[in-house]
Amino acid sequence: MNNKISSKIFIDGGVVGETRQAKEMLGYLDGQTTNPTLIAKNLAAKLGGKKISEEEALSEYKRIVQEISQIIPQGSISIQVFANIDTKAEEMLEQARERTRWILNASIKFPCTYEGLKAAEIACREIAINLDLNFSQSQAAAVYEATRDAKYPVFISPFVGRLDDIGENGMQVVANILKMYEDSDDHVEVLTASVRSIEHILYAIHLKSPIITIPFKTLMEWGNGGFRSPEVGYQYKPNKLAPIPYDEFITLGKDWQSYDLAHPLTYKGLQRFWDDWKSIVS
Ligand code: E4P
Repeated sequence: MNNKISSKIFIDGGVVGETRQAKEMLGYLDGQTTNPTLIAKNLAAKLGGKKISEEEALSEYKRIVQEISQIIPQGSISIQVFANIDTKAEEMLEQARERTRWILNASIKFPCTYEGLKAAEIACREIAINLDLNFSQSQAAAVYEATRDAKYPVFISPFVGRLDDIGENGMQVVANILKMYEDSDDHVEVLTASVRSIEHILYAIHLKSPIITIPFKTLMEWGNGGFRSPEVGYQYKPNKLAPIPYDEFITLGKDWQSYDLAHPLTYKGLQRFWDDWKSIVS
């Protein structure tokens, strides 16, 4: 593994064997992200169409992250709260406090919604957190301001692949957030997520994204090519993606509630996590 890479490498998944294999292949692994879709997919494969109770599903989620935690006890492991558009901050907080007790190295994921940030504002003083379903510079400004009093690590996860999927240049959101955070106190770390390709990885490394979470398949492809780094002067040239330009008018230093949090992919993503989780419970 190339030691010139400054980004931490996480695996994005929900299968214990993949975490083990990724660590073996890299020679280390800095962490893991999970989400309801990935966990439900893993469980669905085992259940073969059978449904289980919400309680059983949750205890399976707990078992999976506990096993992962044994493989990477020093790594950070993201566990998601289950929320839909109606879920209130108090309920997310309750789930977060419960999930953080599952393992010693948990980072609890909240969505970049009004209720998610309201919960995160309190949670960041108690536990490590990760704000996901991030699709805009404006949401990232709100995350930064809502977590100013953080006493534990705070991650923000821009989902780049999902923006690419709708024809927009997702990696530009990562670049824009890093630029906006340049003169900040660094209390929020950018975790490039929803990675779909080696080019995403190379550009995230080039941008010095503090963390990159990579699905097993893409990690293996990258590994089979020797975990290459971007060459000097690397240029990211995605095919036919609409630019997402940096917005000079979005600056840090305002009340988090004053930033525009709305993004269609945030709501769509929230619903998808919810539906995927519910698809395995009776
Ligand atoms: C990260 O925390 C998420 O689990 C993940 O990267 C989402 O990726 P997807 O867009 O491929 O579902």
